[in-house]
Formats: sequence, structure tokens, C-alpha cells
Amino acid sequence: MKLNGNRILVTGAGTGMGLAAAKQLTALGNEVLMVARNEERLCREAARLENAGVFACDLSDPAQITALVEHVRENVPDLNWVFLNAGVTHTYKMFGTEDTIAFAAQEMETNYLSAVRILTLLEPVLAQQIDPAFILTTSGTALVPDISNPTYSATKAALHSLAQSARLTLQRKGSPIKVFEILAPLVDSPFAKDVPSEHKLPPADVIRDVLADIGKDVAQIHPGPTSELYRVFLQSPEEALDLINGMTNA
Ligand SMILES: NC(=O)c1ccc[n+]([C@@H]2O[C@H](COP(=O)([O-])OP(=O)(O)OC[C@H]3O[C@@H](n4cnc5c(N)ncnc54)[C@H](OP(=O)(O)O)[C@@H]3O)[C@@H](O)[C@H]2O)c1
Repeated sequence: MKLNGNRILVTGAGTGMGLAAAKQLTALGNEVLMVARNEERLCREAARLENAGVFACDLSDPAQITALVEHVRENVPDLNWVFLNAGVTHTYKMFGTEDTIAFAAQEMETNYLSAVRILTLLEPVLAQQIDPAFILTTSGTALVPDISNPTYSATKAALHSLAQSARLTLQRKGSPIKVFEILAPLVDSPFAKDVPSEHKLPPADVIRDVLADIGKDVAQIHPGPTSELYRVFLQSPEEALDLINGMTNA
């Protein structure tokens, strides 16, 4: 993929890997539409960048996704990359809280169902463009769960499956749209603040490696320690389960 001259929507762009992506992509000569709930933070960060706009949106609310898609159709009709990176987790153990259902519902709406909605609604827009791509941030937990983020891990497994279906379906219908998946490792961001681990990577380092792989058309990206997790997973899913739960001290 060409890493400049694109029009890119990035979700979760106010912090962590989304913000690192917005910074690096604008610096490379792309135009970025930054999306998240916290509008004040988005505006503050976008003001520091060349060619960045903002759209505040709660992705767990289908009506706000409809408004986002309308905004894109009217204001960025030549959008060619959609980077679905926003995510939410609850760090807890199953059977120890009454909140499990509420946690799972919020995680599923935000992490998975929003992606189903956006992929479906924006596929016709991207299909008209040159070099179009969907980029989805999943996690090593898409392969094997981290038991201290159990219902979150299930949403990433669902998203991993969806990425594979989207990629193969688009390939088989001859669509120009490519689908990239980032199986992100533990990253030092607000998201992982409750995970006690010394294995967290800086978001900017992960995004640098991710963009290099997108430039080389690597469809399934395993940054940092995820590459070792993936290697172990292919040999022994049981060992991979132990490995990931060792990394998060679960
Ligand atoms: N950090 C890790 O260790 C790790 C590991 C594997 C995978 N990941 C994945 O990496 C992605 C990025 O996370 P990060 O580590 O960079 O954490 P982060 O800095 O906390 O970023 C998550 C972003 O998602 C946005 N967000 C959350 N709920 C939202 C909603 N309902 N609507 C719109 N935006 C929402 C947040 O912004 P607002 O609060 O302003 O909405 C925030 O900017 C996530 O998908 C996460 O699952 C992270």
C-alpha cells in the first residue's frame, strides 16, 4: 500500500495507538479524520497536526455511527482507508462480579458491532476509491483469551473472524479493498492501565511497525511479542494460553 496521499478515518484517535497513527499518518502526508467520544481531546490533538479533522462519535451508539457515515459521504467522499482502532475493556475475572453482562454488552457494541456496522456502511464508499483499505485493531487475545479481560477477549476473537470473512469475501468478488488486521500486543496506553505488566510497548513503536507492514501488504500483522505468541499458538494453543496469561500476570 502507498503510505501517503490517503484520506483516512481513524477511530480511537485521541489517545494511545490511534493518536500515534494520526500523528504518523499526517506526518507522512495523509489527511486524517480523527474519531472518538471526547471531542475536546480530539480537537486539542488535531490542532497540533497538519491535515487532521475531527468527528466526535460514540461507536456503541448505532445512531451516532449513522451520523459519522453521513459526515463521511458529504465531507470526505474520497475516503480510502478506514482504521477501526477504538476499543474498550473491563479488567476483571469471571464469576467474581455481578457486572459481567453489562461489561460484555458494552465491549461487544464498541469493539465488534460497531465494526460490523461501519464495514457494511462504508464498503460501497471505499469500493469507488484507489488503494482502499480497512484496517482493524484486534489483539493477541483474538487467538487465546487473557482471563483478566475475558469478555473483551471474546470481542477480539469475533473481530478476528470478521476480518477474515471480510477479506476473503472482498477478494472473491474482485473488490480493490484490502483488509488488514493488527493483532496488537500489550501497549502502554490508558486502555491497559489496570493490567499490571512490565511487557507494555510504547504505542508509537507499535504503529511504526504496523505502518511498515501495511506498506508491504502484510494482511495479518503481528507486532512485537504477538509474533512469538502467534508462533506458539500455531504449535500449541494450550501453550499460547499459558503464555498470554503469564504476560498479563492473570
Ligand atoms: N493497550 C493494549 O495493551 C492493547 C492490547 C491489544 C489490543 N489493544 C487494542 O488497541 C486499540 C487501541 O487501544 P489503545 O491501547 O491505544 O488504548 P486507548 O489509548 O485507551 O485508546 C482507545 C480509544 O478508543 C476510544 N473509544 C473507547 N470507547 C469508544 C466509543 N464507545 N466510541 C468511540 N471511541 C471510543 C477512546 O477515546 P474516547 O474515550 O475519547 O472515546 C480511546 O481513544 C483497542 O482496540 C484495543 O482493544 C490494546
